[in-house]
Amino acid sequence: MNAKTKAKPISRAALSGEADPRLVALSVSIQDDGALYEEDIRGSQAHVSMLAAQGIVPKAAARRIVAALDQVCDEFAAGKIAFDPSLEDVHTHVERRLGELVGKDAGYLHAGRSRNDQVALDERLFIVRGCDRCDGALVRLMQALLAQAKAHEKTLLPGYTHLQRAQPVSLAHHLLAYVEMLGRDRERFAEVRRRAAVSPLGSGALAGTTLPLDRERTARALGLAGVTQNSLDAVSDRDSAIELSFACALASVHLSRLGEEVVLWTTREFGFMTLDDAFATGSSLMPQKKNSDVAELSRGRAARAIGDLVSLLAMVKNLPLAYNRDLQEDKRPLLDGPRALVLTLDALAGAVETATFHAEVMRAALGDGEALATDAAEYLVEKGVPFREAHEAVGKAAAFSTRAGRPLARLTAAEWASFHPRFGADVLRRFDPAESLRRRELPGAPGPKQVKAQLARWSKALRGGR
Ligand code: ARG
Repeated sequence: MNAKTKAKPISRAALSGEADPRLVALSVSIQDDGALYEEDIRGSQAHVSMLAAQGIVPKAAARRIVAALDQVCDEFAAGKIAFDPSLEDVHTHVERRLGELVGKDAGYLHAGRSRNDQVALDERLFIVRGCDRCDGALVRLMQALLAQAKAHEKTLLPGYTHLQRAQPVSLAHHLLAYVEMLGRDRERFAEVRRRAAVSPLGSGALAGTTLPLDRERTARALGLAGVTQNSLDAVSDRDSAIELSFACALASVHLSRLGEEVVLWTTREFGFMTLDDAFATGSSLMPQKKNSDVAELSRGRAARAIGDLVSLLAMVKNLPLAYNRDLQEDKRPLLDGPRALVLTLDALAGAVETATFHAEVMRAALGDGEALATDAAEYLVEKGVPFREAHEAVGKAAAFSTRAGRPLARLTAAEWASFHPRFGADVLRRFDPAESLRRRELPGAPGPKQVKAQLARWSKALRGGR
């Protein structure tokens, strides 16, 4: 440690001597919370301006502090602030540098404030911004999915259950399923943002302050919608961090599902999809390899996001009111969430945008009528046959088709009639997948009219985007 760090740390006024280096090593958090410098500085500027307006500190000192804090912000951005473990966290690093720039006047800043309400504010400002960043990236992936969906309105493939070919859908319908998920994610981030956007400043260490602060004024200056209503809760509440983390975890889980399908679809076995080389990776050993790491990392990242959420929940569990130092441990999972999610969303957006889908392979996977067995059963239902009876008749036909080695679509009208007397020759027309989709026009179904309406709805919702 150099000579400068020997100055008594701000928070050791009542303690003798210096902290043991082993305690310092455990306590330091600047390596994580240094990322919050901008939020911390904006919060301090709003706070000291309010103090001046309330006549608590001299106006000239407040002006000097605000200007110097702008400089500290630039220095942080340029990586010019050297981290000093004995200064612990971002708050004390900012305050110490401010002291170097404006001298004694820097001491006016912290009136009516504690690092407890300060860090709670910094996090709320970070969460608000994090929600906006995630929302923007969600929109970018949704637009990429939507563009491919528009290009593949008529591309047919089997929809799967149990990863077994089930019934025909269009690729547009399949891709729009992800757009729906991500649309819900956007709603979730908007909710998280709304609840986070209140100011805890003025809660002090836990019991407010005797100074006549104007809490609403500080909140307004920071673009926040209001102020927290219980000081004990305000300094120890991490709900918004947990909610952000949950929103990130669930969005990541959605991306892991998309990632899994990209992994499957880009295999030789499936062959539904090819990634652009710019979004594919090679092997250091096997020269022929083209890997879908982008999709695998999307799956893997979800593990990290789930872990972050669990860390935050476990950290708050059983904590007595109000602030406890355990809460410092929230930085890594909190800060990691939006960062990792945005990176994943953007990489996937690029991969989806530039991917090629192989319509003919998908069409072939539909087989020759297997995916339309349910349609044949519904044909009988339309003729007044109870569904269970229809199901059994078509089941027999399917078993016969397997035994005879002839696909369902190749059975003759006479053969169909042998499985149920209500089968007429027109049943043969039910074995066209495009025709099958045209009959599926309930709201939310994969019928072409429905899909067209959904494409229009999402185009409108995402217009302008971000
Ligand atoms: N670095 C601390 C944290 O993130 C700031 C609050 C410190 N408060 C205290 N009473 N030691 O939790």
